Amino acid sequence: MKALILAGGMGTRLRPLTLRTPKPLLPLVGKPLVMHIIDRLPQEVETVILAVSYMREALETYFRENDCGRQVVLVEEKVPLGTGGAIRNVRQHLDGTFLCFNGDIVSSLDPVELLQVHRHCQGIGTLALWKEADPSAFGVVEMKDGRISGFQEKPPPGQAVSHLVNAGIYAFEPRLLDHIGEGTVSLERDVFPRVLDEGLFGHRFSGHWVDCGTPESYLRAQATLIDGGMDLYRPLLNDGADVIGPNHLDGVSLVSCRVGPHVCALPGSRIMRGSVVERSVLMTGALVGEDCQVRDSILGPGAAVGNGTMVTREVLVGVTPVR
Ligand code: GDD
Ligand code: MG
Repeated sequence: MKALILAGGMGTRLRPLTLRTPKPLLPLVGKPLVMHIIDRLPQEVETVILAVSYMREALETYFRENDCGRQVVLVEEKVPLGTGGAIRNVRQHLDGTFLCFNGDIVSSLDPVELLQVHRHCQGIGTLALWKEADPSAFGVVEMKDGRISGFQEKPPPGQAVSHLVNAGIYAFEPRLLDHIGEGTVSLERDVFPRVLDEGLFGHRFSGHWVDCGTPESYLRAQATLIDGGMDLYRPLLNDGADVIGPNHLDGVSLVSCRVGPHVCALPGSRIMRGSVVERSVLMTGALVGEDCQVRDSILGPGAAVGNGTMVTREVLVGVTPVR
C-alpha cells in the first residue's frame, strides 16, 4: 500500500523558522515532524510518497541520508498545486486504496482503524474526524446517517455546522482522481463538496490531535508528546540546575538555572546561570544567556538570547540582544 504525505506548504505561520527548514523537517521532540507520521504507518505501507514543493532539496537530502524503513518517493510540484492538485500530481504512483496525510499533524489516530472503517463503508474516501471546541480554523463536516453530508473549509466564526473537524488524515480510493481537475485544486474547497454523493465517510477517534502549523500549536504538540512518554533526561551537563519535569532534555548544558516543565532542549543547547525556561524549545546549539526568562517560545537552531532578556511567546532565530 502507498501512503501520500502532503508536504509542499510554505509553513508561513511558522516563519522565520520555516525560512530555513521546511515545516515537515522541523524538529519536534527529537525527530522531524514528518517522521511522527511515518513512524506510525501500518506495516502494509511499503512506499511513502511525499508531495513536495517548497524547499524540496532539504527534504530530498534528509531522506537520502536517513533510512526510514520504507521506500520514499518525492514528487515535486514546480509551483504549489494546492492539496488536491498535489494528489493529482502523484497519480502515476497510486494503484489502489491509499492513505493520505497532511504533513503537519501529530495525532494518536491508528491508521489501521481508519482503513478498517474505510473498507467497511466502501466509499470514495474516509476522513479521520476530531472534535474541536472552536472549529473555525479547520475543515468542518456535517454528518447525516453515518455519512458526511456537508463540508465547510474554515467557516467564519459562529457559522460552523458542527464541532467535528477534518483531521487531515484520509483513506482514499484512486477514483477520487476522476474528480480532481488540472492545475491548482483545493481538496477541501473544490473536491470534498463535489464528491459527497460518491460516499464520503468519517471516523472519529480520541486521544490527541494537533495541527502543528502555528508556534502555539507546535508547542502544544511538544507538550503532548512529552506527556505521552517522550519524556527524556539526558543532559550533557547539569551544574546545579533545578529541573521541573517532564521535559525532553537531550545533550543540553544546564548551569544553575530552572528548567521545565515541557521544555525540549536539543544537543549543543545551553541555559546559563539564573535563567528560567518553561514550555519552550531550544533547537540544536540554541543559547539562553544569564538571568533570562524564556516562556512559550521557540528558539531555532543556534538562536541566542542575550543576558537579562525576557522572551515570551516568540519564535527566534539568530541573536536576540539585551532589551
Ligand atoms: N504538495 C503540496 N502542495 N502540499 C501542500 C500544498 C501544495 O500546494 N498546500 C498545502 N500543502 C500541505 C501542507 O504542507 C500541509 O502539510 C497540508 O498540505 C495542509 O496544509 P495547511 O496549510 O497546513 O492547511 P491547514 O492546516 O490550514 O488546513 C488543513 O488541515 C486542517 C487539519 O489540520 C485542511 O485540510 C483542513 O480541512 C483541516 O481541518
Ligand atoms: Mg495545517
